[in-house]
Amino acid sequence: MLKPDLITGRKVRLTAVSKEDLPVMARWWSDADFLRRYDAVPAVPKSEAQLAKRIEEAQADNSTFLFGIRLLAEGRLIGLLEFDGVMWSHGTSYISIAIGDAADRGQGYGYEAMQLALTYAFNELNLHRVFLTVFSYNKPAIYLYEKLGFHCEGTYREHLKRDGERHDMLLYGMLSREWEKSARLD
Ligand SMILES: CC(C)(COP(=O)(O)OP(=O)(O)OC[C@H]1O[C@@H](n2cnc3c(N)ncnc32)[C@H](O)[C@@H]1OP(=O)(O)O)[C@@H](O)C(=O)NCCC(=O)NCCS
Repeated sequence: MLKPDLITGRKVRLTAVSKEDLPVMARWWSDADFLRRYDAVPAVPKSEAQLAKRIEEAQADNSTFLFGIRLLAEGRLIGLLEFDGVMWSHGTSYISIAIGDAADRGQGYGYEAMQLALTYAFNELNLHRVFLTVFSYNKPAIYLYEKLGFHCEGTYREHLKRDGERHDMLLYGMLSREWEKSARLD
C-alpha cells in the first residue's frame, strides 16, 4: 500500500522551485551568516540571474533533485532541500538543507523537511546511503542531524578558515536500514 503523501508533512511540504522564488532566494544569498553556514566557498552574494541558472542546472541534471520547503498553511518558501551528486550505481547521494531566514529557524521546519527528504531518499529514490557535511561551528545543524539519527563518520580536521580561526568540517551519513529503525514521521 502506498503512503498517502510522500512530500507533505504537518507543517511543511517539499515543492518545485520556480522563478517566482528568486527574490526571496536572492535575499538569503545576500546574508553572509547564511552563506557561511551553508557553503565552504567564499561567501559571495548571488543575483537572481545566478540563482536562476543554478535552479535550471539542477532541474536539468538527473543526479540532482532540488526542492523548495514551503509552509503548508501559507505556501511561503522558507528554505531549500537538495540531493546532489546522486550515484545511481551505488545508491548514494549528498543532501543539503537550508531554512533561509533566521526568523523561520528553530520551529521544527528543518526537522520535518529532513524527515520527508529521508523518506523520499529511501522509499522513492531507493537510495542506500545519504550523507552530508557540516561545519563544526554550525551547532543547530549538528543538533538537527544527530536528532534525525545521522552517524558522525569522520572529521575533515581544520578544513575551513574563517575569522582567523581554523574549523573542522564533519561528515555525517545515514543508511536506509538505519532510517527504517530510527526517526520516521511521528
Ligand atoms: C540547520 C537548520 C536547517 C535547522 O533547521 P531548523 O528548522 O532551524 O531546525 P528545527 O527547528 O527543526 O530544530 C531541530 C532540532 O535542532 C534544535 N535546534 C535548532 N536550533 C538550535 C540551536 N540554535 N541550538 C541548539 N539546538 C537547536 C531544535 O531545538 C530541534 O531539537 P528539539 O526538537 O529537540 O528541540 C537551519 O538552522 C538552517 O537552515 N540554518 C542555515 C543554513 C544551514 O546551516 N544549513 C545547514 C548546512 S550543513
